[in-house]
Amino acid sequence: MSIQLNRDNLRGFVTPADLKKILPRIHKAHDDLHQKKGKGQDCLGWLDLPSKVPEALVEEIEELGQKVRRGSDCLISLGIGGSYLGIRSTEEFLPEQVLLPIRYAGHHMSSDDLAGLLKYLEGKKPTVVVISKSGTTTEPALAFRVIKEFLAKRFSPAELKERIICVTDEKKGALKKFAETAGYRTFVIPDDVGGRFSVLTPVGLVPLSLIGIDIQALIEGARQGQKEYGDPDLEKNLAYQYAASRYLLYQKGKLIEVLASFYPNMFYIAEWWKQMFGESDGKNGQGIFPASVIYSTDLHSMGQLLQDGMRVIFETFLLIEKVNNDIVIPRYSNDIDGFNCVAGKGLDYVNKQAYEAAAAAHYEGDVPNMTITLERADAFHIGQLYYFFEKAVGISGYLLGVNPFDQPGVEAYKEKMFKLLGKS
Ligand code: PA5
Repeated sequence: MSIQLNRDNLRGFVTPADLKKILPRIHKAHDDLHQKKGKGQDCLGWLDLPSKVPEALVEEIEELGQKVRRGSDCLISLGIGGSYLGIRSTEEFLPEQVLLPIRYAGHHMSSDDLAGLLKYLEGKKPTVVVISKSGTTTEPALAFRVIKEFLAKRFSPAELKERIICVTDEKKGALKKFAETAGYRTFVIPDDVGGRFSVLTPVGLVPLSLIGIDIQALIEGARQGQKEYGDPDLEKNLAYQYAASRYLLYQKGKLIEVLASFYPNMFYIAEWWKQMFGESDGKNGQGIFPASVIYSTDLHSMGQLLQDGMRVIFETFLLIEKVNNDIVIPRYSNDIDGFNCVAGKGLDYVNKQAYEAAAAAHYEGDVPNMTITLERADAFHIGQLYYFFEKAVGISGYLLGVNPFDQPGVEAYKEKMFKLLGKS
């Protein structure tokens, strides 16, 4: 198995008897998902998406990628939430695959940040991918206005048209109308795949392939996930074991889940994961609060709280079994800093000892923890990991009794903001 789940450090917190007790509910959640009879049944397009991504679409996107890389010196990706995080998490995880620099906008409303991007774009020949399922989201809509106006001063209408690609709904939304009117190349987001589940639709595939990421491998990994995590047997299904464990921990008062990785290039994977679980679980007064840290960096800032603060936390570690570039630690003749004990060893060996130490110490400090280990840091494994979490969140939401596939709560602030803005 190329993704492993270690639950040893749940001993005493999640017992075999606990798991046995909720087994019928896991089976029901599985059936409700697979037979599409549970809550949010119209939004289950992600479930068999990996096996259904059309070969022709992948070829079309890869061909476009070659053209874009020939004619552009950077890619600007505009989008927010589900139309942003999966792209960034994949790109930052796989820096060695990136052939075309990518910059992001439309995920905030900081004018200083956008001004910085415009400065970066001076004299550049960018391709802009605008991503919005609804086609009406404030942040990407405003960033698109600004960037389009900025580029229109330098490029002819015909060239500008070639430099803009839209990823949006097949029929509705302002972005769709824009694209039709201006003749922009467009890719469709399937109706039955929600924003946070959309990384394997053109939302993720288009920008990622355009910058050089191996989307075939990404899809292959997700297919592996679809196969492995489609098994109704809890004993064999690691995504279900993860979902069941976090649910049982929550029932026992562990209200915060901290996703802890040991690699800075997994920062945005955690951001993607936070949206996935926060937006799916957080309803009807329920939901585990998803937080994240990068160790060992954050052991020097958050370590105290994890070890010794309020005991409402459990941790999920994310590990890479074989790193891509290990570095051998040099030896000092005088051992002035006392680290000759690890001279000649890889830095990753030390990183893994930090993990072993943190996992054991936190467990002893009443922070139960699990570990998800990816065999390698590559496109295949992040594809499989995405599917692992997607499947787990479906089961998790059904265990909590909520609809894991909607997000009605996010409208509340928008209504107030639109009123303040005078937007109809
Ligand atoms: O999960 C979601 O639905 C949200 O995060 C959306 O993806 C986000 O608000 C962006 O929406 P849209 O793609 O419609 O612009």
